[in-house]
Amino acid sequence: MQSTQAGTNAFYLANQARWESNARSYPRRIPIAIRKASGIHVTDVEGNLHYDCLAGAGTLALGHNHPAVIEAIKETLDENYPLHTLDLTTPIKDEFVEELFSSLPPHFASRAKIQFCGPSGADAVEAALKLVKTSTGNRSLFSFHGGYHGMTHGALSLTGNKGPKENVPGLMGDVHFLPYPYSYRCPFGLGGELGSEVGSRYIQRTLDDPENGIVSPAGMILEVVQGEGGAVPAPDAWLRDLRTLTHDRGIPLIIDEVQTGFGRTGKWFAFEHAGIVPDVLILSKAIGGSLPLSVVVYDQALDDWSPGAHSGTFRGNQMAMAAGIATMRTIRSERLDNHAALMGQRFMDQLSNIQSHSFSIGDVRGRGLMIGVEIVDTSRPADLLGSYPAHPDLAHSIQRECMKRHLIVELGGRHGSVVRFLPPLIITPEQVDEVCARFAEAVEAAEKSLPVYS
Ligand SMILES: Cc1ncc(COP(=O)(O)O)c(C=O)c1O
Repeated sequence: MQSTQAGTNAFYLANQARWESNARSYPRRIPIAIRKASGIHVTDVEGNLHYDCLAGAGTLALGHNHPAVIEAIKETLDENYPLHTLDLTTPIKDEFVEELFSSLPPHFASRAKIQFCGPSGADAVEAALKLVKTSTGNRSLFSFHGGYHGMTHGALSLTGNKGPKENVPGLMGDVHFLPYPYSYRCPFGLGGELGSEVGSRYIQRTLDDPENGIVSPAGMILEVVQGEGGAVPAPDAWLRDLRTLTHDRGIPLIIDEVQTGFGRTGKWFAFEHAGIVPDVLILSKAIGGSLPLSVVVYDQALDDWSPGAHSGTFRGNQMAMAAGIATMRTIRSERLDNHAALMGQRFMDQLSNIQSHSFSIGDVRGRGLMIGVEIVDTSRPADLLGSYPAHPDLAHSIQRECMKRHLIVELGGRHGSVVRFLPPLIITPEQVDEVCARFAEAVEAAEKSLPVYS
């Protein structure tokens, strides 16, 4: 057998496949070994320059190795600041909390408490669950079809995608899934405003039905724009309805902004589009400025848990806090939230144009720089709403064609048939145009490879 040439992508991937667990995921679809990275670009070990529209699954708000982030990390090292402090406080932590709280709507900030969690989004979800269960004394939770909250036991229990759940018996019980307003595949077969209005009415009736089978809820968790669920934004009116429904019934509303947090949707926090505030806010990804960090910020009225109720060793990552401060300040000073809205619109315009020349794009949607293109099978009949069945094979083929053109995109949504764009917020207009041009070519090539053409 011939061995793969050392130093190539294939060489590293072969080693990875030999050593790493079968649970590894991204390298199966993005088969490169990364040598260096800057801004929206990554360079693989063979010297190919790729446009990275995955950006650490939305983590890299400022792109790879932004000078402000690198500077903050270097300063932490040069000044001999502690790198690890459990949850003991430090000047960096103090500054981080002040910076974060000054980004929150003032009436939320004035009542806010923060818990530093283990460094993953999923651990912050676990903390939020324990917080609301402790405070309410209740055990059941509402979550949503298509929602994604992470891979730990509790977080996975709240996640819609059944794939990773099927082989894990004994997940947390008492989780009740409600319909999310997904216009293209409206759970009520209605779509548009009517679909989401019926959705909030259905939720109201469910909450108020003494025979709904659900014991008193500890909370309701949702994403304002479902990320892994396929870049599905919830309408503002629906969010306001849910805020009122939960408030009036004393149900803590947990908003998971792990992916949307910090400017990505065109506002600092995605919930601000609807003018609401949550009771509990979950943050990770962008807040660590590329490094691992996660927190839960919540209304002090819920602060009923005991000392050590969510302790853990890695909750004081000073470099992540320093990088997070640099990220927040850069987003603020460069108005990257506004920029994300503008660039998002530029993307949407071009993607809609690509849709008009394609026969396999069913829907183009998103908010700011969280965008999804749903790939469908138009050779099969549409449903009553006019929506076609998902076409996961074609979506994979488009992703492969994108890789051939050095464009990194990820798939998500139902059956993995939504191509997702999550570029860094610093993307320039020229880069948006280049990404869309490469995507258009990839769609055309993938469509031409369908049997209907041969
Ligand atoms: C909305 C949301 N919540 C939670 C998580 C879990 O975060 P982590 O992967 O850091 O555990 C993710 C990850 O993508 C996410 O998008």
